[in-house]
Amino acid sequence: MVDSAAGPVDLVILGGGSGGYAAALRAAELGQEVVLIEKDKLGGTCLHRGCIPTKALLHSAEIADNIRESENYGIRSTFDGIDIAKVNAYKDSVVSKLYRGLTGLVKGRGIEIVEGHGRLVSPTAVAVGDRVISGRHVVLATGSRSKSLPGLEIDHRQVITSDDALALDRVPASAVVLGAGAIGCEFASVWRSFGADVSIVEALPHLVPLEEESSSKLLERALRRRGVKQHLSARFAGVKSTDAGVTVSLEDGTTIEAEVLLVAVGRGPVSEGLGYDEVGIAMDRGFVLVDHQLRTNVPTVSAIGDLRPGLQLAHVGFAEGIFLAESLAGLSPAHVDYDNVPRVTYSSPEVASVGLTSARAAELYGEIVTHTYDLAGNGKAQILQTAGAVTLVALPDGPVVGIHMVGDRVGELIAEAQLITNWEATATDVAQLIHPHPTLSEAIGEAHLALAGKPLHSHN
Ligand code: NAI
Repeated sequence: MVDSAAGPVDLVILGGGSGGYAAALRAAELGQEVVLIEKDKLGGTCLHRGCIPTKALLHSAEIADNIRESENYGIRSTFDGIDIAKVNAYKDSVVSKLYRGLTGLVKGRGIEIVEGHGRLVSPTAVAVGDRVISGRHVVLATGSRSKSLPGLEIDHRQVITSDDALALDRVPASAVVLGAGAIGCEFASVWRSFGADVSIVEALPHLVPLEEESSSKLLERALRRRGVKQHLSARFAGVKSTDAGVTVSLEDGTTIEAEVLLVAVGRGPVSEGLGYDEVGIAMDRGFVLVDHQLRTNVPTVSAIGDLRPGLQLAHVGFAEGIFLAESLAGLSPAHVDYDNVPRVTYSSPEVASVGLTSARAAELYGEIVTHTYDLAGNGKAQILQTAGAVTLVALPDGPVVGIHMVGDRVGELIAEAQLITNWEATATDVAQLIHPHPTLSEAIGEAHLALAGKPLHSHN
């Protein structure tokens, strides 16, 4: 039993999601004594209500599409429908297996897991029930939750969040998806593959509006072809519950009837009622403010993951957890490079990117060059019958500063793309690397060959 009487441990971590458990694992590897406090389940949003279960649903969705389209590949099959109970059982089995593995990993490193609701009670202590756990340093990693719009009440039945959508025991006949970020586009994609009539409503002019505009347009075209209706530059006005579901109205007077409304307008920090205010932690709209060392204004307290302002991605949480554990153990790790974080929206088709969009690069650097390689010229893309492109953004005679891709499975290519932008490679550096044929990865090679002035399978 660790408590104040037993003396402080090295690290007390509040929250066992991607950020918190990564910090715990790395700190323990470095010989630190760690207590990890979690009120729900180790693994957090990513493992239980985010990345993992949604990607399992997307995989079931892909299989449904493959069966429907199998005649195109000379395979006769009959699509008999979606057995959502079995889809959910498959999804849950993936989560359970990873959860068991993660729990074993954390325990195996000698980290003490305290189950319960923690509250920061001093700059060096967290209380869980009657127990006070003191540490030389405290890491806040309490994550984020779905947010809504002012006046838009989530009833968890007809007006739902992504948590509710993951727990649905049916495929809705129709759905309105409010917000076309990663969550909105991924659920729109799944539900469409499962046979629902789907409409997306997005306030900005494009789907995945933070991506390169050409990527957004390719996704819009692909989803339009799949029958997903899109209301872009559309402001949400209100929703009324009906016997059959909801009537969603937009500011331009359009109304859309559907069985459910999924609210996917972003995620807010989980920081209320956790003692942060009382201990004097500086916050902005609930986000805990940190410096480039991930320290808060209170020297013994750091914050990582979705709780601080910035990218809300599991892999950023991992990187921050590792960085923090190393710096607290006295090492000098490289700072997390937020400009070169790979991003993937796992819809069908996928959208993947790293580095700067052409608009942002032009703002920062003035003159830039871009090249788009159409997947029509890529053998594997033709085999898979996927459309899309690889777009490079580079400085004239300088490094590649952004790579943007659309197409099935391009998420798996982003790891190479991030090596290119992180190492500030030029098109000529990459052009000499041999990409295996026939793979989708050749599209990255081809784009760089073309940008280096020696296009191979390029028409432009
Ligand atoms: P988001 O912030 O990425 O997207 C929300 C969208 O809602 C925006 O495009 C915004 O313009 C739109 N919106 C806001 N108010 C609106 C209104 N009144 N009417 C119409 N549209 C409106 O948030 P999202 O998709 O909920 O995701 C939350 C976080 O989780 C993000 O940081 C996201 O990157 C992360 N995430 C990442 C995934 C991935 O990497 N594959 C998967 C799921 C989530």
